[in-house]
Amino acid sequence: MTKNGKTILLTGGAGYIGTHTIIELDKAGYNIVVVDNLINSKEEAIHRVEKIINKPIELVIADVRDKQRMNALFDTHTFYAVIHFAGLKAVGESVAKPLEYYENNMNATFVLLDVMRTHHCKNIIFSSSATVYGDPAMIPITEQCPKGHCTNPYGQTKSMLEEVLSDLQHADQEWNVVLLRYFNPIGAHPSGMIGENPNGIPNNLMPYITQTAIGLRPELGVFGNDYPTHDGTGVRDYIHVCDLAAGHVAALTAIDRQCGLATYNLGTGHGYSVLDVIKAFEKANGIKVPYSIKPRRAGDIATCYCDPQKAEQELGWKAQYDIEDMCRHSWNFQTKNPQGL
Ligand code: NAD
Ligand code: UFG
Repeated sequence: MTKNGKTILLTGGAGYIGTHTIIELDKAGYNIVVVDNLINSKEEAIHRVEKIINKPIELVIADVRDKQRMNALFDTHTFYAVIHFAGLKAVGESVAKPLEYYENNMNATFVLLDVMRTHHCKNIIFSSSATVYGDPAMIPITEQCPKGHCTNPYGQTKSMLEEVLSDLQHADQEWNVVLLRYFNPIGAHPSGMIGENPNGIPNNLMPYITQTAIGLRPELGVFGNDYPTHDGTGVRDYIHVCDLAAGHVAALTAIDRQCGLATYNLGTGHGYSVLDVIKAFEKANGIKVPYSIKPRRAGDIATCYCDPQKAEQELGWKAQYDIEDMCRHSWNFQTKNPQGL
């Protein structure tokens, strides 16, 4: 029995954010069970985490949409809360395969919530996204900012699932629902043993930078330099994945206090442009990143960064790492795992 003895179920816990969150939960004394169908992750990632925390992790390889398997899991465990990471997340792919995205992300959540309710586990932390703000009505973005229009099916699933969870909590106040709106997670565990491991050509900026720096890609395309930002390139709120992971432990304190429905931005509050990130990466790692300016990417917005004060005031959580740490740790993971996990 660990310090607090509570067991947390992580759906999608073998993925990028999930694996880093296991480490933070373990530090805080929680027991952990992971359910993942490994559609976008590898069992090896869990083995790496087992080495980092020096203990075995119960990994159930199953699809969250499989109600029979999920019922069996809940029949044999008592979960204090579920952190629901499982979902498909590639924006471009979601435009090409909307049905697959709606089907997976919505149905997995419906099955999970039904099974949780049946087993009287009514505490959930949901992985939402800054994408729900669309082209944001205010900068920095507070949680009061109205939700906006999502330009892709992936974003729609996040926005719709926030509504589903809110409606559920309004209907039955025994539920505690924490919606965490992540900004742009990058970086990796300082050990370099786990990190972001995208399949195929990366969609996101940092894995594209590291793969270019290591020579897997000839150059980075910078998508647009005519945005209304300080240097014309898109500005985002990059957050170290270990800080983001710690945010989930902090969110459990809201559940402890029976928060009902609560929404938090998880970001640093600082906006960096694409060119700022390239410069920070080059400085942190002493390596050049070849790039050229390309046209804007469809659906992109100019600026997106948050006001993270609510999470600090209510959860006592604040991001600790800076942009150079993020760049150093991303590169450390890439160089230690040149072909990924
Ligand atoms: P990831 O793809 O690395 O992890 C998601 C995990 O869910 C994977 O291991 C995948 O195999 C699993 N999965 C997907 N569908 C499943 C299903 N039906 N049953 C069981 N397992 C399933 O992604 P991540 O970056 O770790 O993101 C975690 C969550 O955070 C996702 O919901 C994502 O949409 C959300 N999010 C991520 C970002 C980001 O930039 N990484 C930003 C905002 C929100
Ligand atoms: N970018 C490039 N070149 C690339 C990739 C990205 O210039 O090869 C630029 C983009 O145009 C944007 C910035 O880098 O200005 C960040 O792009 P990402 O694709 O890394 O991240 P996004 O902000 O577009 O979206 C990410 C996730 C979403 C999530 C959102 C939350 O992909 O799922 O962060 O803010 F919702």
